[in-house]
Amino acid sequence: KLGIILAVAGSAVGLGNFLRFPVQAVQNGGGAFMIPYFISFLLLGIPLMWIEWAVGRYGGLFGHGSAPFILSRLHNHRIIKYLGTIGIFGPIVIFIYYTYIESWLLGYAFFAITGRLLAAATPESMQAFLLTYQGLAPGSNLLTAYLFFLITFALNIIILYRGVKGGIELLCKIALPVLFIFGFIILIRVLTLPNVTAGLGYLWNPDFSVLWSAKVWLAAAGQILFTLSVGIGVILTYASYLKRGDDVVLSGLTAASTNELAEVVLGGSIVIPAAFIFFGLAGATAAANSGAFNLGFVTMPLIFSQIPFGQFFALLWFGLLFLAGLTSSVSLVEPAIAFVADEFKLERKKAVLRLGLVLFLLCQLPIFFLGQGVVDELDFWGGTFCLVLFGLIETILFVWVFGIDKAWEEMHHGAELRIPNFYRPIIKYVTPAFLFFILGFWFLQQGWPVVMMHGVSQTLVPYVLATRLGLIALFIGIALLVRKAWYANK
Ligand code: ALA
Repeated sequence: KLGIILAVAGSAVGLGNFLRFPVQAVQNGGGAFMIPYFISFLLLGIPLMWIEWAVGRYGGLFGHGSAPFILSRLHNHRIIKYLGTIGIFGPIVIFIYYTYIESWLLGYAFFAITGRLLAAATPESMQAFLLTYQGLAPGSNLLTAYLFFLITFALNIIILYRGVKGGIELLCKIALPVLFIFGFIILIRVLTLPNVTAGLGYLWNPDFSVLWSAKVWLAAAGQILFTLSVGIGVILTYASYLKRGDDVVLSGLTAASTNELAEVVLGGSIVIPAAFIFFGLAGATAAANSGAFNLGFVTMPLIFSQIPFGQFFALLWFGLLFLAGLTSSVSLVEPAIAFVADEFKLERKKAVLRLGLVLFLLCQLPIFFLGQGVVDELDFWGGTFCLVLFGLIETILFVWVFGIDKAWEEMHHGAELRIPNFYRPIIKYVTPAFLFFILGFWFLQQGWPVVMMHGVSQTLVPYVLATRLGLIALFIGIALLVRKAWYANK
């Protein structure tokens, strides 16, 4: 059981905490973002964590490890398997861009060793370094980035091939505590930088006006789900490996708290204040807007350049973050592997190799079309929209269709901790209503024509459209496979 908690914590703690969270906060009102963020944690994150652990464990009893088939055990209707398809599709979409960003960390760790990363680390040079690495600066190419991507991708496949248990659990056991220790050391350095109060002030002084925007709420809810790895489909799969008597309440809470410590205390208090100190408000906002994961890459090396043994710390930081990313990215493929292995009765190794080939092809898109906004587009639909939608579907199925009485009992089976009673009405009414209203208001506020191309610059429209059509095609493809497996096993 400890292994599963570690695997879930490993899945949760990742690029979302240290790279995505600061960008989301800066883009969505800074301190004000923390209000919907904490509300989402309490009303969505924790309930969904418990729901997914319980539902996953329940589905596992019937030998299913992927969302379409697990959810169909809660209610037998043919539409459920298509709704459940989101729980395979979503994590694949995230994996497609996540692995590429993860590989930048390996690249940065390498350039920390060679000394190139910290040579003349100024805000301008760090931005130029990132653009060159991404192949977006004039005269630059993708050779280095591609090489690190190949290594990263291969590592993912090797770990998955060997099975998550041996590799991932061990990795989490070592890498997570070390990451925390180094996180705290770096935090102390940031807190002793001159002008740190201005940066911290931005994060902790709310500007309430942004709270009227449904997009800010959607972003906060999406970030909570993304960072906790709930609403994705991943925890359903991990929890399906549990035994009926294994605790889910305390385990879910432990994984969630570990993740929040890493996100708010480390992710938030390191990258955001540092961004303000080195770049100022306008510069930090511009860096955040330049890409969903960029901010940490331009600020962290600047912190290291001001620390004794900075080169060594930079290597450790990017190296550990790479490992944290690795424990998350492999988890994103688990639902698809479980699907193929369980429902097509394919041996795990064969399933990994076949899926690996498809994923490799899909991963080319964010690499070659990064400058055309493909990563941000995939991140919005795969990393925000699908999570909120899938979270809503799971909650309704579990607490309304399966029934709150049975659901409450299921969650408490083997529990080492009782969920406080006030969470019962929260899980029954507030969580689904909250998810529904966020989606509804977001939809109404943006309006269909704008939803389609909101804030997209003219030159990017064809790429964004192509990405969305591609995503629809991918979803249909997976849904057809689910359908095939369904009828084959009937
Ligand atoms: N939960 C993972 C992360 O935060 C996906 O990176």
